[in-house]
Amino acid sequence: MNRIALRAALGSASALPFALYYSDEIKLAIKSDNDNMFSGIIATSVGGGGPLSAIQTFFGGSNEEKFKVDPELTNPTKPCPLLTIDDMRDMVEQKDRIVVSFMGNVFDVTDFTGHPGGYGRLEMVAGCDLEPFWKVYTQHNRGHILQYLERYKIGHLSDEEAELQRSSTPEFSNPYVNDPPTFPTLLTNTRHPYNAEGRLRNLTDSFITPVGHHYVRNHGLVPDIDPEEYTLTVAAGYGCKEKVYSLKDLKNPRKFNHVKVTTVIQCNGNRREDFHFQKEGIPAFGPPHWVAGAIGNATWTGVRLRDILQASGLDVDGISLNKAKLPEGANNVSFKGYDHDEVGNNYCCSIPVEKALDPYGDTIVAFEMNGEDIPRSHGYPVRLIVPGNAGARNCKFLEKITVTPNPCLDAGNWKQYAVHAPDVPLYKLAEFEEHHVELKMDPVVQEMPVQSMITVPSAGDTLQVEGPPDAPYVKVKGVSWGGGGSGISRVDVSADGGKNFTRADLIEKPKDVQERERRGSEWSWQFFEREIPLSSEQVKAIKSGQKVELELTSKALNTAWNVQPESADTTFNAHGCCVNHWYRVPVTVDPAAKENKRGPVGDFENKPGVNGGKFRTPFKNLNQPPKKSN
Ligand code: HEM
Repeated sequence: MNRIALRAALGSASALPFALYYSDEIKLAIKSDNDNMFSGIIATSVGGGGPLSAIQTFFGGSNEEKFKVDPELTNPTKPCPLLTIDDMRDMVEQKDRIVVSFMGNVFDVTDFTGHPGGYGRLEMVAGCDLEPFWKVYTQHNRGHILQYLERYKIGHLSDEEAELQRSSTPEFSNPYVNDPPTFPTLLTNTRHPYNAEGRLRNLTDSFITPVGHHYVRNHGLVPDIDPEEYTLTVAAGYGCKEKVYSLKDLKNPRKFNHVKVTTVIQCNGNRREDFHFQKEGIPAFGPPHWVAGAIGNATWTGVRLRDILQASGLDVDGISLNKAKLPEGANNVSFKGYDHDEVGNNYCCSIPVEKALDPYGDTIVAFEMNGEDIPRSHGYPVRLIVPGNAGARNCKFLEKITVTPNPCLDAGNWKQYAVHAPDVPLYKLAEFEEHHVELKMDPVVQEMPVQSMITVPSAGDTLQVEGPPDAPYVKVKGVSWGGGGSGISRVDVSADGGKNFTRADLIEKPKDVQERERRGSEWSWQFFEREIPLSSEQVKAIKSGQKVELELTSKALNTAWNVQPESADTTFNAHGCCVNHWYRVPVTVDPAAKENKRGPVGDFENKPGVNGGKFRTPFKNLNQPPKKSN
């Protein structure tokens, strides 16, 4: 289907008007100049001939420059000629370019092959105005997105043509209407697809993270799968014969042994927001902009992936014992999910074949989460669990397993999941295909690095003085995780931003989990606690009635003695992957306080772990469903 035909098909399918509240959100954005959330973009002279005033109005109405704009992404001297709708149509139909308009400006995004929402979605909107699409995909309503667009600006429309173009672009019916209900207990990062993180304070409430507190990551529409109809296909090739398994087959203990695995799943982009403008002018390139809570620890029940591959003909045990040879080219195992975007691109990912075959690797095809059917939001009816590895490897709604020479053959979104060097410029990530040889030199993240975060208290809290008058302390709780199967050797905590550390107490894991975990297969997290004694100077200040500002932080060392880095600078990468520097929590100890008092929650309850617990650009969240639907 060519681009125009695809667009026409979509236009005619747009029967359902999208819910009114989206328009309200956008209206809210238009008049949200108090927050100035979008103001940063304005100083980049989006105009250059275009109707700059319209963009200013839309994005906050201020000329004040809030952050420096990445010079790589913008070129203010670029000519910006007056174009017409006919010119746009000509470029799309005759020259096969992906040309779009937004707020009266015209952009050629053909080269934006690294679009984190997938290239298919850009093809879908060729020739259209972006506004109706971004009313659904409200994650674009943060200033940095316009930075990307600026690079691709090729001209502007007259005010009349801009209006005509907007009104002639068909309404985009919200394709997510059949998604499962959202969780009011989570913090919504993006509404479509629904991505939501756990509240940090709640993560240490229970060792097993219940549904509703475990983060949810979606890449497309959530499929509604009939369990009776469900099939899992193992593709033929590289030692496997084609096999198709039903849910009943997988659940049948006479066909497959069932195992339980308690593991952390953490999105490889957890804490991405900490890298947002960490380097001057460079926004974090990737969705979602998780703040801290894209991590949870659940118990999954299912069938070992190696048993499924063995049943499909691969001599898994022989290969593992070095008695049989791995078929040549059998380097990876790729997974396709039933979920797809609105142009039909399914989710896909892959893991190295060694992780799939490792008898201690505990990679399972799961059908239960915490003893119940897996909820739709978490991958019903069957998903992959790859303990120790990046969250994105844990393919939800599992449809197909293929042994492959290369990682993930489909048009999936694995591009987002590599950690590139700090000096890899953003435009290379944006124009992925042009730079794919260089970018593919960096492998996709598999095993995750060591992590810890203080969960209680929260940034901005005011605490009463605890402990004896001569030896007051501040009490902290938190989560730590070795990553990649490592356990935790030690967690150190500090009340002065890391000048002085002391050992925290590690809380024993539940007995059944301890019994299942072996060295190298320590998949679950470990809680820590400590009453950190205050320094003599701090005690003196408190005794004289003064408030004391503390910066609490933690530093975990895993069983291989790898340790979290001190600062975000040392691990900076523009994708915002594997973010694990010391998580910092600023609090105030007030000698006059009679109880602990929560700091202001603001627009987003979890706070970044850099910058004194403050967002660098406001994280005003326009992606929440309306209050009444909660
Ligand atoms: C043509 C201009 C576009 C630009 C410059 C753009 C840019 C981006 C960027 C930078 C992100 C990452 C989010 C972030 O950093 O906060 C993103 C995500 C996304 N975009 Fe776009 N986008 C464009 C068009 C579209 C269109 C037309 C659609 C849908 C029809 C779309 C759908 C999405 C989705 C669904 C995501 C999130 C994907 C996920 O959560 O995995 N984008 N886009």
